[in-house]
Amino acid sequence: MIDDDDRDLMRQVKRYLRRVNELPDHEAVPTLTPLGELISEHLGTEASAVSVVHETIADHRLVDADIALEVLAGDGLLVGVSGGEQRHQQGLAEFVSNPYLRYAPGPVDYAERATGPDSSRRVVSLGLRLLRFEGHPLAVTQRAAARQYGREAAMVEIMGGEPEVVTRFLAALRAAMVEHSVLRGQVLSFQPTEYGREAGATFLVRPSVASDDVVLPEGVLEEAVQHVVDIGAYREELRRAGQHLKRGVLLYGPPGTGKTLTVRHLLSITPGTTAVVLTGSGIRFVTAAAEIARTLTPAIVVLEDIDLVAMERHSSPQPLLFEVLDALDGLDGDADVAFLMTTNRVEVLERALAERPGRVDLAVEIPLPALAERRRLFRRYAQGLPFTDAALDAAAERAAGVTGSFAKELIRRSVLRASRDGRAPGDDDLAAELERLLDAREQLTRSMLGAASPGEQGPHAAGPTGSFGWYAG
Ligand SMILES: Nc1ncnc2c1ncn2[C@@H]1O[C@H](COP(=O)(O)OP(=O)(O)OP(=O)(O)O)[C@@H](O)[C@H]1O
Ligand SMILES: [Mg+2]
Repeated sequence: MIDDDDRDLMRQVKRYLRRVNELPDHEAVPTLTPLGELISEHLGTEASAVSVVHETIADHRLVDADIALEVLAGDGLLVGVSGGEQRHQQGLAEFVSNPYLRYAPGPVDYAERATGPDSSRRVVSLGLRLLRFEGHPLAVTQRAAARQYGREAAMVEIMGGEPEVVTRFLAALRAAMVEHSVLRGQVLSFQPTEYGREAGATFLVRPSVASDDVVLPEGVLEEAVQHVVDIGAYREELRRAGQHLKRGVLLYGPPGTGKTLTVRHLLSITPGTTAVVLTGSGIRFVTAAAEIARTLTPAIVVLEDIDLVAMERHSSPQPLLFEVLDALDGLDGDADVAFLMTTNRVEVLERALAERPGRVDLAVEIPLPALAERRRLFRRYAQGLPFTDAALDAAAERAAGVTGSFAKELIRRSVLRASRDGRAPGDDDLAAELERLLDAREQLTRSMLGAASPGEQGPHAAGPTGSFGWYAG
């Protein structure tokens, strides 16, 4: 039971506490923490009087920063910060002098981060380095993004007696991050989280698709290869002759005809080129992708199914598409960067691209396969299987308007049909499954495989089918 006396006392305490809270901070004498003393000793001056320079770093560059700082720190001291969860919210200045929290040297916080499709590195996610740069003492903290504390990016904080030294150190840090970048030469993707933020760069295994695996009309693949790859191969000659290297290539055509396959082939033949692949809603990271491309040339930025971006409904018209176009525009023409875009709805893009010309300098149509290509496709996907060439050719002839993905699915179904009966597949399976797929009831399947309806030869089928095959390998 609380009686009146208790209540009165509690009120007094409450008033007292409120006054404590209202006390201005400067009346609390700033006191050097144990960590502050360590830093002061290293800097040879009272650390609370030294200002802190902040450098924000995209979280996907944290590994690069970790490596660069390790290189720059040499045999400098690395310590962690002890002092409770607050350490994630407070900065170097508060670590140094703090009347309430006695920050002290403690264990370093580490995080495991990917450095490739199947490699990783233990990086410092919160730590302090006491190092010498050009002979001058510096104190440098390094921390990962911490979304739970509202910090979206990684950060480096630097304390040093002389501002010019700090400036030069920052320049050296940026250069070392580029020199030692683990992103260079990798195939990267950005995944949006469910909150729309970047969940970080994912490393993809570089695809391996031979030119023979891409069945297209004569010259089509070569044209794309020339523009994307050869411009890079002759970069010195072109530069000497004052020609720009930046290029934008649009691959357009009906669903399932091999646009993504072509992209994967282009990445196969450009090992060592940094590539960033953005698909669908991942395209919102185009600015980050362009930044990586600019920093780590030669580079390829792939924007898959870019029409999805153009169709997104927003209050203002197509801001994301404009962001894409700006990213293309913002890059220096001298940069060896290829933007590779795919769409199966070129009509959605045409106006936006025409209004802001110069972004795309080559548009390659990846058409529905004509008879000759269908023959090659059917044979390719039936390789090693006991179908006769005559039956495959007959199927190719019968299947006007279908795509590469249709051919692949047809062969699979034919094999499955025979497997169910416990026998090897034969021409009858092929013929039967073809009729089934061409049957009116399979209209939806057909359009999912990218085939045009009978009598129709246009990109009117269902949405993208192939792009997610990326991740399946
Ligand atoms: N021209 C082709 N040559 C060989 N295989 C093909 C071809 N077109 C499609 N295929 C097969 O179909 C699959 C799907 O094709 P792909 O993903 O490249 O289509 P897409 O043009 O990107 O379609 P979308 O517009 O729906 O993204 C490929 O992985 C491949 O197996
Ligand atoms: Mg595709």
